[in-house]
Amino acid sequence: MNLKKRILVTSALPYANGPLHIGHLAGAYLSADIYVRFQRMMEKDVVYVCGSDEHGAAITIRAQKDGISPQEVVDKYHQEFQEAFDRIGISFDIYHRTSAPIHHQTSQDFFRTLNDKGEFIQEESEQYYDEKAEQFLADRYIKGICPKCGYEEAYGDQCENCGSSLSPTELIDPISTLSNEKPILKKTSHWYLQLDKYESWLRAWIETGELDGSVLHDPTDWKNHVVGQCKSWLDGGLQKRSMTRDLDWGVDVPQEIEGSKGKKLYVWMDAPIGYISATKQWALDNGKDWEPYWKDNDTALIHFIGKDNIVFHCLIFPAILKAHGEYILPINVPANQFVNLEGRKISTSKNWAVWVNEYLDDLPGREDELRYYMIKNMPETKDSEFTWKGYQEAVNNELVNNLANFVNRVVVLTNKYYEGVVPEFDADLMIEVPGDEMPGFHDTEMLTLHDMCQDCAEYIRKFDFRSALKVVMEVSSRGNQILQFNEPWKQIKVDEDLVKVVMNIGLQYVKALSVLTYPFMPFTSARISELLNEDHIDERDGFVGMLNLLCEDEPLIQSGHTIGSASHLFDRISDETIEEQVNKLKKSEKKEGVKNENHAIPVKETISFDDFMKLDIRTATIKHAEKVKKADKLLKLIVDLGFEERTVVSGIAEFYDPQELEGKEVSMIVNLAPRKIKGIESNGMILMAENQKGVLSFVSPKEKWENGSVIR
Ligand code: MF3
Ligand code: ZN
Repeated sequence: MNLKKRILVTSALPYANGPLHIGHLAGAYLSADIYVRFQRMMEKDVVYVCGSDEHGAAITIRAQKDGISPQEVVDKYHQEFQEAFDRIGISFDIYHRTSAPIHHQTSQDFFRTLNDKGEFIQEESEQYYDEKAEQFLADRYIKGICPKCGYEEAYGDQCENCGSSLSPTELIDPISTLSNEKPILKKTSHWYLQLDKYESWLRAWIETGELDGSVLHDPTDWKNHVVGQCKSWLDGGLQKRSMTRDLDWGVDVPQEIEGSKGKKLYVWMDAPIGYISATKQWALDNGKDWEPYWKDNDTALIHFIGKDNIVFHCLIFPAILKAHGEYILPINVPANQFVNLEGRKISTSKNWAVWVNEYLDDLPGREDELRYYMIKNMPETKDSEFTWKGYQEAVNNELVNNLANFVNRVVVLTNKYYEGVVPEFDADLMIEVPGDEMPGFHDTEMLTLHDMCQDCAEYIRKFDFRSALKVVMEVSSRGNQILQFNEPWKQIKVDEDLVKVVMNIGLQYVKALSVLTYPFMPFTSARISELLNEDHIDERDGFVGMLNLLCEDEPLIQSGHTIGSASHLFDRISDETIEEQVNKLKKSEKKEGVKNENHAIPVKETISFDDFMKLDIRTATIKHAEKVKKADKLLKLIVDLGFEERTVVSGIAEFYDPQELEGKEVSMIVNLAPRKIKGIESNGMILMAENQKGVLSFVSPKEKWENGSVIR
């Protein structure tokens, strides 16, 4: 258990090069948000910082692709991130950005201090240089053949095919993506952090939690996969790592340092320091002192990240902090693994993602449905899976049938039997309770509720958010069972006193749920409070307050209080909604292998007019479409040409659903030799326009046409 006086929570600064998607949420943001919301409600001094990571190749490559400046890229996405985080309820104390002057200063100060202390070595080496573009090439700007697997599009730092990490000089036949020319090797000088020098204390700190004679954390509190990854880096031997780059976008190496001209800080040197500059800015804005949060041993620093960031947060950044000398190290780095989407890796460049802003536009008011499903499937110890079907089931079976149903029954019945007033009850009466042979009293049931709240808190403290959320849903199930077992709707005519006990307990459960849901589903928490006609949960002390009342055998909601009128907490998600989302995902996907978004597809060899006249292209209408069995990409189409009907097999199943195609007017080559595809004879070919991103659309008329007309 964390007994520190204050807590500083960070979430990985996302690269401002694309919008927020569910992979981000599941990785570093929802988990941190649950944790800080809970700790605030426990009256802890907790600060939650984040911001946009606005430097590095991720930004300049985006700028180059979109034909805009890096500044325009970061301005655009910084704003989008801010908006999306806000809409989905991530409760940062500050969302900052690394282009801010205070950040440039802070990271330069760090560099200066490390340089003055002699922590760097300056060394010359040969690096790839693009003569045409007149610049040194960041690893990501170099492509070539992977020496490990032969993949032709490997990057200078990594092969996305086999996953090996590479260095640019290992690539076979390297090419600059700026000019498509072969780069040359040129001498340049950089500042290196001697990670090898820190290896032994880093290993001890990771393995035992011990540093300079004191134990800073219990390593068994850390996730196995995090410790495992660190150990495998350590076992591989740490090597010096360059902390500067030859770039024109980034934080300048401090001017007064010799040889600084044209040199920028390595993005992984400046970005984590962004946590510090964000804390400074937060302190300035709030009249606070930032230093204790970073320098006092009584602070618990916790980094929430995705697994691809582990080495930077567990080895490199701690090495930088320790080398500086004044800073504390993280007490835990509860990294998450990845979430896949419909069986595949989430990818911004392939547009295979669910974007938070788009989700909220399409499904307004459903913030907590997404939060719930993502937390339920949080990839805490292994990769997990987002499917739209799974989302629908979670919402309908759990949020609607369990939580909304329970809350609604209690509110409706209280209004019906007592005109909305929380009833007094006889504490000596017994009611049926789940899980026990024996009936129970009101106060023993309150103890059970207390224990469940404690369990939930304990799971949150251990970063086991899935289990914590399960407890919340168990509270709701138990509430439902109490109603089910005691049947107030029947008993109201038989034993009014018993019904009062049951309904009072039900109301205590609903009140507890307004607190318990707050870290996970803050919008729902607010709605439950409104149904109870109570103030929103006090985010400063809501949880402690509840635990105290429960310990002292006091009610959470007072008899005599008048609640509000009923309305549904959650609505069902229909099959159509799910289908729409699945189709949207498939349609907007950019096909693999289409890499050079800037380059037009080359024009084919010239043909004669006679060649052209050989083609017979006609107008037609699709009459019927169906999936071809055992072929994901194929549809069987029956097409009306006016003078006859034809069967055509078309490779468009990924983009269109059969139902939406019936009645579609299309163009078709009708004199192509028949071909057998998956046992079906295809007689002709539907014309499709395929853009550079691999997205297909029909060649269709704006105006109504007659089937069978000749196109030329
Ligand atoms: N921008 C990085 C990424 O998206 C994360 C940076 S985390 C920080 O992978 F520590 F550097 F800030
Ligand atoms: Zn490879």
